[in-house]
Amino acid sequence: MKKLLIVGNFKSNKTTSEALDWFDKFSKDFRANPDKEIVICPSFTSIPYLHRSITDRALKIYLGAQNISLFEEGPFTGEINAEQIKEFCRYCLVGHSERRSNFSEDLESINKKIKNLIRQEITPIVCISELNQIEGIDDLGKCIIAFEPISAVGSGQAEDPGSARSFAEKLRQTFPGKILYGGSVDSANVSSYTSSFDGVLVGAESLDPQKFLEITNNA
Ligand code: PGA
Repeated sequence: MKKLLIVGNFKSNKTTSEALDWFDKFSKDFRANPDKEIVICPSFTSIPYLHRSITDRALKIYLGAQNISLFEEGPFTGEINAEQIKEFCRYCLVGHSERRSNFSEDLESINKKIKNLIRQEITPIVCISELNQIEGIDDLGKCIIAFEPISAVGSGQAEDPGSARSFAEKLRQTFPGKILYGGSVDSANVSSYTSSFDGVLVGAESLDPQKFLEITNNA
């Protein structure tokens, strides 16, 4: 049986105390399932605190970053590099549509970030909204792909599961790795995506611990 990856993307939400409160509530009812890997992508500021909470309770929950510097360590004021998150994070999002549109993230920067992450043995989760966005990605074989149609992200209008499935089938013709679906996933629709994808990337509905728990249970 395939192992599902359920990823919660907090985006630019939650102070550290709010993230810790979320984690207390989530972990109280969380039961590890060998068929599902749970990943939380909070803000950088909360990552070490959540890492400590997870380690203290010996829970099988993993962390991801939402972004990473284009550069390795050095004189790059304000940047957080891949080596700095390595001790905490197993994954990192790259090329999210919100970064492509608000921060001009393009193929060149996506490739630099992927390279830096792979050097630190962090798995990039590369977000795409069109099939042709995998063209020119180096080291694609070491990445996870998240299919996130622009119209579905943050809109409450999830992609039709049938058309999402056909996207995944086309992508599988050239890409052998894990493929996630993202865009308005909730506890009611999650199973219609996990039947044909290797997991989901969840934004808004991950912000509430009970809702995210329900998503992980229903996936
Ligand atoms: P959403 O966000 O679940 O709020 O649509 C998904 C994402 O942007 O990763």
